Amino acid sequence: MSSLPFKVSWCSPSNIAFIKYWGKKGPQLPSNPSLSMSLKECHTKTTILFSEASALKVDLKLDGCREDKFTFKIKNYLESLVGEYPFLNHLQVDIETHNTFPHGTGIASSASGLSALALGLTDFIFSFQDRRGDQDFFQLASSLARRASGSACRSVYGGFVTWGEWGNGVGSDLFADPIDVHSSLKNLRDSIIVVDSKEKSVSSTSGHGQMTQHFFSEARFNQAKFHFNQIVPAMKTGDFEVVGRILESEALSLHAMMLTSPSPYTLLKPSTLKAIEMIRQFRHDSQIGLYFTLDAGPNLHLIYPESEASKVLTFIQHELTPLAEKIIHDEIGEGPFRC
Ligand code: DP6
Repeated sequence: MSSLPFKVSWCSPSNIAFIKYWGKKGPQLPSNPSLSMSLKECHTKTTILFSEASALKVDLKLDGCREDKFTFKIKNYLESLVGEYPFLNHLQVDIETHNTFPHGTGIASSASGLSALALGLTDFIFSFQDRRGDQDFFQLASSLARRASGSACRSVYGGFVTWGEWGNGVGSDLFADPIDVHSSLKNLRDSIIVVDSKEKSVSSTSGHGQMTQHFFSEARFNQAKFHFNQIVPAMKTGDFEVVGRILESEALSLHAMMLTSPSPYTLLKPSTLKAIEMIRQFRHDSQIGLYFTLDAGPNLHLIYPESEASKVLTFIQHELTPLAEKIIHDEIGEGPFRC
């Protein structure tokens, strides 16, 4: 084992899915391929100190405060890896973590936080195992992140990232892969309209679980695959209209799954629906490519090219601010880095 103690810090971004992962099987494998954009400003900085101990111990502080719920989750996660990495049984793992964005804003802190953790763990594994090359490093980090939280596996890369098999042996369910897109899509912005910052009533993990009993699950998985195979060529040619149409359809399909699940629930708020109407009207009137998407929550991500930023920001300022608790302006990011 590498010389202990071993300390490492990673800054890793959140991501917003264009094609949604909703439904899983086996060891956190997705039921359909997904595709996301890594963000820039919304990220987590995590410092991990590995030191010798008689048994696995985890101590986690979020913004300087001990967090029992997360500590428990991370300890369970590390225990699940002991079969492959028995050395984990003899480690004290001290984690200090800080998000650049507030809690409960619909921005996936699990994706940024757990990818940062997985990257740090991969650094530790690489410090004493003979693995070489950047690609192997990020593949292992992505696969370790996946086992903590599915969407986290996409956050180990910047730009646009796919996860899951998408036909003819392309793509993997085990780890994510970055994907190159047309230059016109390399400067997309994401303005997040937080209409409700309260913690959501049903977790994503429970939502995924409901897909196993869902009447529409097969149709939904087929739709996601269909969308995936449509959006990839559109992203390669820079057809933002096709990308935007699919983006919105994916967001609404995700919430349609919740509305029609065996134990139905509604995460959308009246302000979400009002904002959607206003975005559609703005697009119709201005002919500007502004599209929305949603995570598993009521808050809207507005996706648009940098070239339209000044008109879109005026629209947001005048029309959407009254509906929002807060607004966070972000953009496509270059991925995680040691910090
Ligand atoms: C709606 O990755 O949070 O954001 O694997 O159970 O941790 P677990 O779920 P999670 O689900 C993300 C769902 C989503 C869509 C997506 O990011 O693809």
